[in-house]
Amino acid sequence: MRALLLESVHPDAAAILRSAGATVETLDRALGEQALIEALADVQLLGIRSKTEVTETVFEEAHDLLAVGAFCIGTNQVDLAAAGDRGIAVFNAPFSNTRSVVELAVAEIIAMTRRLTEKNTGMHAGLWDKSAEAAHEVRGRSLGIVGYGNIGAQLSVLAEALGMTVYFYDTADKLALGNARRCATLPELLATADVVTLHVDGRQGNLGMFGDEQFALMRQGSLFLNLSRGFVVDHRALRTHIESGHLAGAAVDVFPQEPAGRGDEFVSELRGLPNVILTPHIGGSTEEAQQDIGHYVASKLRDYAREGNTTMSVNLPHLSLPPRHGGRRIVHLHRNVPGVLAKINSLLAEHKVNIEGQLLDTRGEYGYALTDIAVDYPSALIDSLAAMPETIRVRSLG
Ligand code: NAI
Repeated sequence: MRALLLESVHPDAAAILRSAGATVETLDRALGEQALIEALADVQLLGIRSKTEVTETVFEEAHDLLAVGAFCIGTNQVDLAAAGDRGIAVFNAPFSNTRSVVELAVAEIIAMTRRLTEKNTGMHAGLWDKSAEAAHEVRGRSLGIVGYGNIGAQLSVLAEALGMTVYFYDTADKLALGNARRCATLPELLATADVVTLHVDGRQGNLGMFGDEQFALMRQGSLFLNLSRGFVVDHRALRTHIESGHLAGAAVDVFPQEPAGRGDEFVSELRGLPNVILTPHIGGSTEEAQQDIGHYVASKLRDYAREGNTTMSVNLPHLSLPPRHGGRRIVHLHRNVPGVLAKINSLLAEHKVNIEGQLLDTRGEYGYALTDIAVDYPSALIDSLAAMPETIRVRSLG
């Protein structure tokens, strides 16, 4: 098995794949389409981050490719349908940086509540401004979390441990953790919370969901955070509410337009405001998160290659069977139409092959079956499974 890891993915990823017997080549940069096609000759596992585009043309040419690991959160850079249609699994790391975002939010809530940015700026300018004015504890204050998903829910737990009262609003039905209280509407949350923090996802409907109307509903002297997506918030309206003194501070990590590269100029209506913490989309950027991403995605690639397990795949049905003890596993990806499992099983019966374990799952247009059989089977079996019109890809693992 050969693996190609691009864009300086964490070294632990290469170590995990090597310990599974793969030959691993690493590169510190992304590759363009043609270079990627050439580099993928004889490669089964590809690891990328956000800058390598894996297009339909790449998948068309990469005949040996089994799986792509996106060592990041997003998978927009990968043509998922083209991958699925060729039986190539795609994995990412949706939760690896959750804790990092939560810790930054906690740090910012405390920093703003104590007005640390202003004290720090004053000290660097030589000003000894020792006063308790407008500085508060977070204990006893209320936190309103908008979007109670992975990040929102974990923040809820940490905020309660700090003594905050947590309210949340989510469009989906979510289990309230600890003593957190659900708000029926966003206005109800905005009227209640001393600190409002956004952790919604990037669906199109969230474009501009937080503007003048929502800021106006927030309590006098409250704080605002956005560590979710830049396009969710109207920054001009946020500036107005900070300048008027209605909001006491804000922390923003994500912006509608972000500079393309390190060192580029950052342009925003939010520059130069007091008690406003601006960070360059680093909510999830910690060494721990990078290491966790390396472990998580490399393990998924290994388990898919060795066992056919697709748990948490972005584009295929999710299946996992325990490791085999001596037998073989037939991995069969097919079109999700009626009768495929029956056909697989009658082919196995025709070849006098006994089934020792079997699982099937479907997702959208794909069906995926894992079948454990005894070691000995006629080679014609795999040919006849591959020849089924519904078959997308078949592998035999042993
Ligand atoms: P998630 O998908 O687990 O949770 C999002 C939650 O928001 C869901 O429960 C959903 O039902 C809810 N939601 C969506 N639209 C809503 C609305 N209009 N009102 C109320 N609830 C709404 O996502 P996760 O992992 O918690 O991430 C949250 C956000 O954080 C995402 O936008 C993600 O891109 C961003 N993020 C930012 C990072 C950074 O570096 N700043 C790093 C990682 C994630």
